[in-house]
Amino acid sequence: MSKTEKNRVCPVELSGSLDTKFRRLFQNPVRILKPFILPGMEVLDLGCGPGYFTTAIAELAGESGKVTAADLQEGMLDIVRKKIQGTELEKRIELHRCEKDTINFKGKTDFIFAFYVIHEIPDKERLFTELYAALKPGGSMLIVEPPLHVSKSDFRKMIDIIVDTGFSLNGSPRLFPNKSALFQRN
Ligand SMILES: C[S@@+](CC[C@H](N)C(=O)[O-])C[C@H]1O[C@@H](n2cnc3c(N)ncnc32)[C@H](O)[C@@H]1O
Repeated sequence: MSKTEKNRVCPVELSGSLDTKFRRLFQNPVRILKPFILPGMEVLDLGCGPGYFTTAIAELAGESGKVTAADLQEGMLDIVRKKIQGTELEKRIELHRCEKDTINFKGKTDFIFAFYVIHEIPDKERLFTELYAALKPGGSMLIVEPPLHVSKSDFRKMIDIIVDTGFSLNGSPRLFPNKSALFQRN
């Protein structure tokens, strides 16, 4: 697989396949997120796509929490917008458009959640420098990458870049068959 194919951005036309009943059976958003999200937290959902995890994050963060649902594609953000329109969650979720070369996020957050997105972003050094700046001291970041699409060595390279940026590796939550790693900003 070429580098460009690996970095291919998931098109909006495939968003339906990211939010299905079948996915909920083996990747239940609340079950995955519950160990990491506490009420009142501010969370950045990077590469939120159609918001499969976003609404669960907002539920777990509660009324005093805040979620920034960030994506490169306006089409993905439109889907999240429609999903939350007129619901309680609208007040807790802010939609944020990233740019191709920068996440363009100026806030500070308690937790960064990046599920199936890192391999789509070519400049990882820049990405993790920005994410480090976006995290409050003591905050955490969970990255999860797909099992086949991202090889063991590619995932190891991601971890090395993240650690070189200044994050501490804080374990690998079991999210079989995916590759996952939890980091902390000291
Ligand atoms: C495979 S989808 C995963 C969506 C969601 N996290 C999930 O698991 O359902 C990857 C998402 O990352 C977004 N993405 C790709 N490159 C990005 C970038 N540079 N900045 C922000 N989002 C990006 C894509 O638009 C797409 O919505």
